[in-house]
Amino acid sequence: MSHDTPVAELTKTEARKELKALADEIARHDALYHGEDAPEISDADYDALRQRNAAIEARFPDLKRADSPSEKIGAAPSTQFSAVRHAKPMLSLGNVFSETEAREFRERVIRFLGLSDDEELAITAEPKIDGLSASLRYEEGALVLGATRGDGREGEDVTANLKTINDIPHTLMGAPDVLEVRGEVFLSHADFGAMNAAREEAGEELYKNPRNAAAGSVRQKDAGVTASRPLAFFAYAWGELSEPLADTQSGAVARLKALGFRTNPLMRRCVTLEEMLETYAEIEGRRADLGYDIDGVVYKVDRLDWQERLGFVSRAPRWATAHKFPAEQATTILERIDIQVGRTGALTPVAKLSPVTVGGVVVSNATLHNADEIERLDVREGDMVVVQRAGDVIPQVVRVLTEKRPKGAKPFEFPMTCPVCGSAVAQGGEEDDKDVVRRCTGGLVCSAQAVARLKHFVSRRAMDIEGLGTKQIEAFFTDGLVKEPADIFTLEKRDSADSNLKPLRAREGFGKKSVDNLFAAIEARRTFPLNRLLFGLGVRHVGETTSELLARHYGSMEALRRAVENIIAGDEAARDDLLAIDGVGGTVVEALTEFFAEAHNLEALDRLMAEVSPELLEALPVADSPVAGKTVVFTGKLEKMTRDEAKARAAALGAKVAGSVSSKTDYLVAGADAGSKLKKATELGVATLTEDEWLEMAGN
Ligand code: IVH
Repeated sequence: MSHDTPVAELTKTEARKELKALADEIARHDALYHGEDAPEISDADYDALRQRNAAIEARFPDLKRADSPSEKIGAAPSTQFSAVRHAKPMLSLGNVFSETEAREFRERVIRFLGLSDDEELAITAEPKIDGLSASLRYEEGALVLGATRGDGREGEDVTANLKTINDIPHTLMGAPDVLEVRGEVFLSHADFGAMNAAREEAGEELYKNPRNAAAGSVRQKDAGVTASRPLAFFAYAWGELSEPLADTQSGAVARLKALGFRTNPLMRRCVTLEEMLETYAEIEGRRADLGYDIDGVVYKVDRLDWQERLGFVSRAPRWATAHKFPAEQATTILERIDIQVGRTGALTPVAKLSPVTVGGVVVSNATLHNADEIERLDVREGDMVVVQRAGDVIPQVVRVLTEKRPKGAKPFEFPMTCPVCGSAVAQGGEEDDKDVVRRCTGGLVCSAQAVARLKHFVSRRAMDIEGLGTKQIEAFFTDGLVKEPADIFTLEKRDSADSNLKPLRAREGFGKKSVDNLFAAIEARRTFPLNRLLFGLGVRHVGETTSELLARHYGSMEALRRAVENIIAGDEAARDDLLAIDGVGGTVVEALTEFFAEAHNLEALDRLMAEVSPELLEALPVADSPVAGKTVVFTGKLEKMTRDEAKARAAALGAKVAGSVSSKTDYLVAGADAGSKLKKATELGVATLTEDEWLEMAGN
């Protein structure tokens, strides 16, 4: 049933009917999500259903059902597989979508490495397999661990399951003592079809696509079930190694093949942009008859010493990128435009569509981005629209078939008040240069924002608390158990002390064991890397990279807070100090001051800091580097590497790279023709180094 009558206008009979429908609908989605790895709707849609249920119950408390979804916490925490930390993180890839962007990728590499015209830059091109990545650890030739990617740092131990895959050898001859092989687990179209046919026969839920089926198969409790699924594996990368496999990407892949792994036969080594694009076209041309899903072509710099020099930005290598195939499109009816309220209050219009299959996936929601986009597309409720889906990104409405517009369709009126909390909606920016995004001004008063912030706080890349996912947060928030981050840490105390509360273990889906596990997981997060805690606060424009820069620079939450408070009070030196961090600009300063100027943010932060004691940084891979923690400024013309490379390497060693010299500068690295910065450093008595001295010190 549709759920679009405003809650305030529902009659009692309608409300009763809708609560029943919601209970059934939510239970069905729970089963699909948890039992089958085959969700039919997005998390946001699922959340919307639960929110609607809660809103109706709030208005008609006496209609609350015995099987009300708000009493259920979703699935018990997954304790099925044990967590394993990857010796080397499993990276993701940046994307390019056009020939121009592919050329820009190649040019960025050339610029970063400072290559001259006569130096050959070889780049490999190979299919991007649409499966799930896995890491296989071999010690002295024996497969000792097989893990999923997880969040890239930590995955799940699925050794027994991966061992059932034919393409994965259990022993290797002549391999390095430690060898982690990485690649993609996938299902061919033929095997996927046969598997779903058998499931249909047996009356079981069908898998949506080969990737979901492969993922579901790898995460089976019983390895016997995995063994019955014809999974395949292509090796294309590696993690920890006791000795190098080769000097080049292509050489290393050839070595993996010689060791007995299946590698992709379509990989080519390309020495010009034209060759890269030809290979892309060739692979795209064969896409339909490969017999397995691919969603693009991956380019990788061939020389491994250059890969090393290029390094990473966040979680993606600078030396590789994915050239995605163009998006697929379909036509359907836009039934309704909903407004969702995000973590920062941004109101995002979402198109509710008649379900349509786009590139093998059923789509019933598409983003409309913002009010300007609605105006630009001139999209109205009831319109026939073209939707497009590219990879894993949220589908988009790209075009309206205005000739098919139903009579009487009216232009959409963007709400002036928040649909969740009723607060005013504001549009930032100047009169003639308005921001495109409109925001709810309710802040934490707005339950949509408060919940979204909590979800962000516990998300994988932030606090990542096992057993405390979006579903639990949602339920705890609805019940008033957790309203802000600090509440998570006092949950256990209140759970045993407050007799007005229904104890957690008495809740559905929450036995004593899972409650104990949850409390243990929360306890374990009281000491936690500062950068991730900071990221978890969800300050606008303060993403993972910026959080790490800030954590390194200030060393503690108190120091950061003091600095920002000083900036708010007009302290220019504090402002310059913050801006001197390479990678921090005006937007971040503004966002931080905005955040720390809010009394309720400060109070919530105080309550949180009373519960936790963050450690300085997550990974301390650089603690033994002599330049770790030092502030370095580069000036003049460097000979051995480009400026970007110098900065990136210094940062990777734990140094803070600043743009200008001050009394806080530890080293000025002066290349040829250094000017005013060198002069200032000399005046201030800052140590100056030549490029060679710096390289020596940095251990290169
Ligand atoms: S290389 C350092 N090569 O794409 C780069 N990844 O979007 C590590 N993938 O997590 C990945 N085919 O699961 C690489 N030929 C290929 C790939 C591939 C598929 C997946 C992989 C990765 C994701 C990143």
